[in-house]
Amino acid sequence: MSFIEIKDLHKTFADKNKSNLVLNGIDLSVEKGDIFGIVGFSGAGKSTLVRCINRLEEPDSGSVVIGGVDITALSKKELALERRKIGMIFQSFNLFESKTVWQNIAYPLRLEKMKKKDIEARVSEVLSLIGLEDKRNAYPGELSGGQKQRVGIGRTLANSPDVILCDEATSALDPQTTISVLDLLKEINQKLGVTILLITHELEAIKYICRNMAVIENGVIIEQGLVSGIFQNPNSKTGKIFIDVYSSFQNKEYYGEGEGI
Ligand SMILES: Nc1ncnc2c1ncn2[C@@H]1O[C@H](COP(=O)(O)OP(=O)(O)O)[C@@H](O)[C@H]1O
Ligand SMILES: [Mg+2]
Repeated sequence: MSFIEIKDLHKTFADKNKSNLVLNGIDLSVEKGDIFGIVGFSGAGKSTLVRCINRLEEPDSGSVVIGGVDITALSKKELALERRKIGMIFQSFNLFESKTVWQNIAYPLRLEKMKKKDIEARVSEVLSLIGLEDKRNAYPGELSGGQKQRVGIGRTLANSPDVILCDEATSALDPQTTISVLDLLKEINQKLGVTILLITHELEAIKYICRNMAVIENGVIIEQGLVSGIFQNPNSKTGKIFIDVYSSFQNKEYYGEGEGI
């Protein structure tokens, strides 16, 4: 049994006078300790899928099982406890602007009423993991995008999650910063064994850190497998388009050869 098992997940949104079927039977399995990528066009249902996994959005039907726990069957109270083990990071970082880095990371621990001494110890540990010890008293407004996302990752790490769901976590960052945040995710995966689901429209991010991946198209997972396999031989229309575009960026010289521009 895989660590994350999603079966026949459906979600419909009711728009003004028609209903919008956004997840149309998602099936997915992710092994423990994997960094698993999901790529898809804008509007394919990626964010809805992540939000249904931790039930920020309630799915209509289907099941999500994480580490043997059926998330879809939990009461609100049980879900609140279970969610501590399911971290999430966002494109927009979602930090508290009026709290310092330290306070942002301590926030989930304070909610749990952890003892002050233990909070201090845990936050220090997390600050060292994310490499921001010197920014503990800074406010988000004083940080770069990459540093903000490190704080987002730190806040999620405070609870020692089993899983981190990343919804376009690097899509607002420049290429160098993207790489440093992906490196941090990889380090967390290797050091702590956290399973990571990287949901993005940036195929290069998946290529950089994932071993397995899936392609989502109109609310359905249309293919999944090893990243290397899908790159060699994409079967789906969406997979082919993504890989064609990726290859074009790798191969073409739009501004002539060798000359600086
Ligand atoms: N809260 C919502 N209410 C109504 N429609 C929504 C809501 N969230 C997403 N949708 C619709 O679901 C579809 C998929 O959106 P989303 O999951 O955000 O896709 P992606 O993250 O792949 O870009 C879009 O058509 C969007 O308009
Ligand atoms: Mg999205």
